[in-house]
Amino acid sequence: MKIEQHLRISVGDGYDVYIGSGILENCGRFISELFPQRNCMIISESNVAPLYLEKVRTSCEDAGLTVSSFVFPAGEEQKTLETFGSILNALADAHLTRKDFVIALGGGVCGDMTGFAAGCYMRGIPFVQIPTTVLSMVDSSVGGKCAVDLPQGKNLAGVFHQPSLVLCDMDTLETLSPEVFADGCAEAIKTGILDGKELYELLQEGPEDGRLAQIIGRCIAYKGGVVERDEKEQSERKLLNLGHTAGHAIEKCSNFAISHGSAVAIGTAMMARAADALSFSTEPLSEDVESLLKDYRLPVTTDFEPEELLEAALTDKKRSGKLITIIMPEAIGHCVMREVTREQLLEIFTAGWR
Ligand code: GLY
Repeated sequence: MKIEQHLRISVGDGYDVYIGSGILENCGRFISELFPQRNCMIISESNVAPLYLEKVRTSCEDAGLTVSSFVFPAGEEQKTLETFGSILNALADAHLTRKDFVIALGGGVCGDMTGFAAGCYMRGIPFVQIPTTVLSMVDSSVGGKCAVDLPQGKNLAGVFHQPSLVLCDMDTLETLSPEVFADGCAEAIKTGILDGKELYELLQEGPEDGRLAQIIGRCIAYKGGVVERDEKEQSERKLLNLGHTAGHAIEKCSNFAISHGSAVAIGTAMMARAADALSFSTEPLSEDVESLLKDYRLPVTTDFEPEELLEAALTDKKRSGKLITIIMPEAIGHCVMREVTREQLLEIFTAGWR
């Protein structure tokens, strides 16, 4: 095992994040230090479980934990109240108590639903995140946002429930398809635009030669800092939604055929183009941002018209009253929140559209 980065996120009781390789085989050691001799349930999904579930189970059992497991079908469309209910039933059937805990083994969907179930089961039991995609490592496994989608919209039912430990094993990224890999890179590039030159330049150098672990570590450190200052998204945490107002609208207009990462990439490119066109940016941004996104094989344009995107965006949960909060990049490392009217949002979408 090689641990490349160790971070501490100081929210609530605080939790450690480890990034490295060979961690799955050794995860029981980390987990049993926190929860010695306890019962736990590993929650995973049908693509990830055949690859890693037994490895995690064996390591946990060897470390003295009593382990059960529950596997649900893979896919974004599984992020529902129904799957959430089946996880709660599995926890109850296994007689887990408040002293016990849950392990989320998988990507963002798995982490979100497991965290939500852990946050509700017996009014809240601890959970460990073992993310297996770039997206879940750089974004969703840290920060405690756990939710499911409702027919009316994405992530409409959920809780803030921070994990007790996050274990990022880089070996799990080797089995990702290029599309799923690129999807996570969109969130990393978004974070690079927020965080500034050091992460942005690391992203420009590319994920090769061991830089991916550094990129992931830097993204988590940035996000961890934001979450420490604003856990419940009252202000600064909203910055993490850069590219997401247009992104969610694109996902919605495509009936979710366009993945979250691709939609965020297009949304981020749109905001950079709008920032240049409307002179919000203090330095030219869009060419650079577009070229970085393309380097990671991410799309930067959409066929959905600005008016269609506006309608979809107006049903987004980030709308409060008549104003919509959007995140506007002004420079690499400097993004601001803007409260805009429907008309101003249309102007921004139109200026950034391509
Ligand atoms: N994914 C954005 C956040 O966790 O706030």
